[in-house]
Amino acid sequence: MKISNAVRILTGAAILSLVLLIAVSFAVDCKNCQIGDDELGIRKGTLMNEELVVPASSDALPEAGESETITRAFENSPPNIPHSIADFLPITLDDNSCIDCHHPDAAADFGATSVPASHLYDIRSGEQTDGELNGANYNCVMCHTPMTDAVPVIENSFEADFRNADDSSSSNLLDILNEGVE
Ligand code: HEC
Ligand code: HEC
Repeated sequence: MKISNAVRILTGAAILSLVLLIAVSFAVDCKNCQIGDDELGIRKGTLMNEELVVPASSDALPEAGESETITRAFENSPPNIPHSIADFLPITLDDNSCIDCHHPDAAADFGATSVPASHLYDIRSGEQTDGELNGANYNCVMCHTPMTDAVPVIENSFEADFRNADDSSSSNLLDILNEGVE
């Protein structure tokens, strides 16, 4: 056998032993690092009962007209609803209080943000809806989330990178819908 071959075999054996050693030490370690059932969930307590669940409440939220708008989560995200919506639910086919205040014809009188151009437009057919709310946007809370006073279980460290300063408080989805496509 040539010397270089012998060196190759020895090096191979050494690497194999090292890999085995690491594998064995992991296996040994894992015996000491079992996850208990009270560490499995994000609430860090037993999952066998609901005692640690803090009920969220939206009773304490200010009424519409008395709240402060919330910085947008990211460019053209649906803004969160800053006011209580308890009096405006359920949203039914014949009764949608949200649009009564947020329609462009009414919004200024209530001091509310008007629905954006994208809500008065049928994206599927590419046609305007003559100032009427597009039916696909009828159920506002499908996209706009109401607030509660619940303490977040996990802190959210996401930071939006707005391209323009205005994007943190207003939207323009319809204007830029085809950006990067056309
Ligand atoms: C009585 C009028 C009124 C009604 C009804 C109403 N809102 Fe509002 N809404 C407002 C006003 C006024 C504001 C601005 C913040 C404030 O002054 O409380 C606002 C703010 C908002 C915002 C934040 C807009 C932004 O620029 O960040 C959203 C989203 C919203 N409302 C959604 C809804 C939804 C969804 C409903 C129905 C469940 C609803 N609103 C019902 C008056 C109303
Ligand atoms: C399918 C999801 C969806 C539904 C349903 C929906 N919205 Fe929106 N909304 C959005 C998104 C996304 C934006 C931000 C981008 C845009 O459209 O310009 C937005 C923006 C808004 C804004 C901010 C406008 C601005 O100029 O900054 C208001 C106010 C609003 N919506 C109210 C409503 C109300 C009231 C309803 C129900 C009648 C509703 N939305 C239904 C997705 C939705």
